[in-house]
Parts: sequence; structure tokens; C-alpha cells
Amino acid sequence: MSERYAVIGHPVAHSKSPFIHAEFARATRQDIEYRRIEAPLDGFRRTADEFRAAGGKGLNVTLPFKGQAFVYCAQASDRARASQAVNTLDFREPTFGDNTDGVGLVRDLSRNLHFDLRSSRALLMGAGGAAQGVVGALREAGVAQLVIVNRTVAKAQAVAARFPRTRACGYEDLGEESFGLVVNATSASLVEAAPPLPEAVYARGALAYDMVYGRDTPFLAAARAAGARTSDGLGMLVEQAAESFFIWRGVRPDTAPVLRKLRGG
Ligand code: ATR
Repeated sequence: MSERYAVIGHPVAHSKSPFIHAEFARATRQDIEYRRIEAPLDGFRRTADEFRAAGGKGLNVTLPFKGQAFVYCAQASDRARASQAVNTLDFREPTFGDNTDGVGLVRDLSRNLHFDLRSSRALLMGAGGAAQGVVGALREAGVAQLVIVNRTVAKAQAVAARFPRTRACGYEDLGEESFGLVVNATSASLVEAAPPLPEAVYARGALAYDMVYGRDTPFLAAARAAGARTSDGLGMLVEQAAESFFIWRGVRPDTAPVLRKLRGG
């Protein structure tokens, strides 16, 4: 019988994870079943317990449950602890929680977009769960400098304080500073807004990256108008899924064909 996995979230109806994992399973000849589970907002623990009791082997966790999944797991990886959020649960004994979002972003940047992180100054916008999930990985990837900018500066300061060599500021403090990489980890794109970035923020040849995927966002449109190269977060989605698949199955799927299919190529 197929081993069972799912993505749990609220809402979750539009998740592309079932398609991605089905493609990985086919390509690597793994016998798995992967579906979507919409948990009630107050029912993450109960729903995860039920899935596990029914024989489920693992879960991907998406909004708004990543923080609760961190509390839920009995054992967390270093990168999950650093971000205080879990997007991958493995129902081995004891339940293991990991966070593959950061490595997903870094792999998309370095392998798919051929972006040289080591020589770049990076600006990360946002200080919520999405931003916290990727700070550690950006740091470890060796960015020359990492600045976290947020509307509420105190939140950026609290996040930056948890990571070495990371600075925090507000949008108005950016002045004429420029960056080779600007990552949007705010939720502004979800309401068709763009964070208030100064125009000078893009260094020559800069890459503007929005973690949101599947559509052009006001941030990406403004970045393009300012001369930056742009990318949505679809590659990050596929790369974080590949890392989850590896945690569960011990096999690394090839991501490029799946990303091509999702892009309609
Ligand atoms: P998530 O878990 O998706 O990160 P969150 O924890 O609610 O969601 O965090 C949302 C982030 O987007 C915050 O950093 C928020 O800034 P504040 O902390 O100042 O609220 C940021 N954000 C949301 N809308 C924004 C906008 N229009 N411009 C700039 N930042 C915005």
C-alpha cells in the first residue's frame, strides 16, 4: 500500500504541493500518496494527530500553522529551531520537525537563477514567519551582508538579534543604500501592495525576488521598472518540496523538470 503524506494548511485548496510530490514520486519510483488537508484554524494538533493515527507518514505544513507545528514536534532540526517554524513533519518516533523553506530559497537562487550569493549584499523585507524561515539559510549561504527591513522596526531587530552578522532597520533608514539581492518575505503582495522601498535600493544587476508565486506582484513590477532582474517564488516552492521529499524518502528528486512543467513549458 502507498505510504501517505499530505500538506496541511488553511486555506490549502490551491496548494501545488500534491502535483509536485506526485511528480517527484513518479520520477524516483517511490510509492506514495499525497493529498491536501484543510485543518480548522483551531484544529491543527487534532488534525495532525488524526492523520498520524490513520497511518500518515509525514506532513508539509503551510500557513498559518508553521509555528504550531514547531511546538507540535518532539524533536526539531537546528534550522527549524533557528526559525521557530516547521514546514515538514516526519512521523518517525519521536516526531521530527524541520524547516526546508530557507534551503529552498537558497537553492532556487543559486542553482536555478545562478545567483552568486557570496558576493552580494542582501536585503530581506519582512520579519514575520516567512522571513524568519529564511534568515539562517541566507546567512549560511555566505551573503556578504544581510539587512532585515521591516515596517515595525522592533520586530526586525528582534529577528536580527537571533542571527550573527545581521542588521535590522526601517524602510526610511535605507537612504541611498543599494543591494544585489532584495527578497520580499512580507505579506504585502497578497493584498496587491508593495513595501515602501527607495528607488536607489537596487545595485547594478540586482535580483528582486518575491516569495509569492504564480503572479506578477506590485513589488516585482516596481523592481523591473527600476531595472532589476526579477523572480517569483515558484522555484523556492519546488526546492523546499524536494528537500521535504528527501527527508521522508531519502531520495533527492530532480527539480528542473517539475519547475518547467509548473511554468507551463
Ligand atoms: P508571515 O508569516 O507570512 O510572514 P506575518 O507574520 O503576518 O506573516 O508577517 C507579515 C510581514 O509582512 C510583517 O513583517 C509585516 O510588517 P509588520 O511587522 O510591520 O506588520 C509585513 N507587511 C505586511 N504588509 C506590508 C506592507 N504593505 N508593507 C510592508 N510590509 C508589510
